[in-house]
Amino acid sequence: MQADILDGTSLKECVRDFDLIKKVYFFNEIDSTNNKAINLLQNGLQENALLAAEYQTKGRGRFSRAWFSGKGESILFSIIVFSSQPREVWQNISFITTISLVDALKYFNISATIKWPNDVLVNNKKISGILIEIGHPKDKNKKSGIIIGIGINVNQEKFENSKNFSTEPTSVFLECHKKIERIKILEKFLFFFSDWFKEFEKGNFNLILKKYKQHSSTIGKALKLKTADVVIHGTANEIEEDGSLIVRLDSGILKKITAADIVEIDWKQKG
Ligand code: BTN
Repeated sequence: MQADILDGTSLKECVRDFDLIKKVYFFNEIDSTNNKAINLLQNGLQENALLAAEYQTKGRGRFSRAWFSGKGESILFSIIVFSSQPREVWQNISFITTISLVDALKYFNISATIKWPNDVLVNNKKISGILIEIGHPKDKNKKSGIIIGIGINVNQEKFENSKNFSTEPTSVFLECHKKIERIKILEKFLFFFSDWFKEFEKGNFNLILKKYKQHSSTIGKALKLKTADVVIHGTANEIEEDGSLIVRLDSGILKKITAADIVEIDWKQKG
């Protein structure tokens, strides 16, 4: 394997073939690439961009959780995209991001699935997490941008206290027992994401949802969910266009969940 270098030069080279990305930022160390993206958007950035870091001091995950990764272990990046689609459908970005990650991993013979809403799993362990946010400009004449923050575990050979994670973690190395250069994985992700973003911009949401559902390992499973204020037990019945999960409660009633964390899932059950 070539040395696993992720830096400004390799990133620029990596995005060259993708029309989608117009600007590239690389940081040896930063608080969080999502924070930086928010800041760039506030200050008027109006072009699609890729921001990556070797190390984050305050990496963030969903529900204000911390996202930690040691130097050189992961691909830590945020993509800023501007869309001509209406705001109501922007949550579909989460679908195309997870699909693209699954496709990219498949290229390296890693078979991944999606745990609602946007965790990417291999052998039911989490290999990648996504945090999607919207960044607004101070100047109201400018456009807001979608920030897609992604962490992919690549080189970790073990995880300390892995049982304490909300979903047990894994890495590319642990799953395929060989080192794969991070830039190659990023390149494949951008390849698929660029294509899916075109579908998104064309409004092909049926196709996108269909593909997402094909990769879902959540539908049909018994699970326990935590929303901001309640714990819910039931079976995942359906995923809807707006990104929500329909759960059949033990009472038989169908409940629509828009934001929650799946804290337990019965993997033994067939989906
Ligand atoms: C989650 O699973 O809770 C989402 C984790 C998202 C982590 C990535 S790492 C790059 C980007 N910058 C951040 O601060 N968070 C995202």
